[in-house]
Amino acid sequence: MHRPHIFVTRTIPSEGIELLKEHCTVEVSPHDRPLTREELFAGAKDADGILSLLTDRIDSEFFRQAPGIRGVANYAVGYDNIDLAEALRRGVPVSNTPGVLTDATAEMAWALLFSACRRVTESDRLMKSGMWKGWGPMQFIGADVTGATLGIIGAGRIGTAMALKSRGFSMKVLYADAFRNSTLEDTLGAQQVSVEELLAQSDFVSVHVPLMESTRHLLDRQAFGSMKRSAYLINTARGPIINEADLTAALRDGEIAGAGLDVYEFEPKAVDGLSELPNVVMTPHTASATISSRTGMAMKAASNLIAMVTGQRAADCVNPEVYQG
Ligand code: GLV
Ligand code: GLV
Repeated sequence: MHRPHIFVTRTIPSEGIELLKEHCTVEVSPHDRPLTREELFAGAKDADGILSLLTDRIDSEFFRQAPGIRGVANYAVGYDNIDLAEALRRGVPVSNTPGVLTDATAEMAWALLFSACRRVTESDRLMKSGMWKGWGPMQFIGADVTGATLGIIGAGRIGTAMALKSRGFSMKVLYADAFRNSTLEDTLGAQQVSVEELLAQSDFVSVHVPLMESTRHLLDRQAFGSMKRSAYLINTARGPIINEADLTAALRDGEIAGAGLDVYEFEPKAVDGLSELPNVVMTPHTASATISSRTGMAMKAASNLIAMVTGQRAADCVNPEVYQG
């Protein structure tokens, strides 16, 4: 039988590659960096399946250049880098990696929340500069977490995990989502509210919606204007959900107290002025970067891809309509 040929666009944990090799011929990009369009097309040209990253744009041009592709396994839970409509039109199944990075991402949201409100990175910079002059009653005053109001925008897997981890801090939890979340309501007494109400009432707003046309720039100058001046914004979802220039202005002008960001509108760049602000804590899209998450993502992407190129149904298919055709 023909062994399916797989192109992996960048090195991932070896467990995933080993699993793929049991069933397929595997080519891994030799470059430890995002591929150029030409490199992506050249690698995928004769492939049956591709293991893609969120930095690879999988669009109609890609499918034209790689006509043999029978499956796209994205190494991420988000899949806004993939033109799903085009994949569906061509009957190509696409998968993601849900579940294995839920806690890691929620934990990073908490890390950013605490770093921002207790000014951890600002303090770290002072200590390392050797300029600390000793204890002072007015130094690095931040905000309390215990008893504060946490607002979760998008109560899916990750938003739910973020909210559930607030139990140790006796927080009031609000969430905005199209669906009711009975886990949050029953466990935390959380209340479902509109985005507007959530913004107005929360001390901490954490974003967990996927990037779609309806969520692009969901948070803009008007949204920041409606938040408390003492509030913090946390984003571990996707950068373009926030108008980053507006956020930079809001942080600079003190419309909100601070932000913790793992994702950016124009990765790998941040908009001008953002990184100079003292009240923003920034990490380089590493919320899922733990050993178990990344290994889990590699195993999921590999098993989904094996299923797709051998004509079986992928467990984490995000366009299951392809199977109805
Ligand atoms: C990372 O951003 C992911 O979507 O998994
Ligand atoms: C993603 O995994 C989510 O549902 O939040």
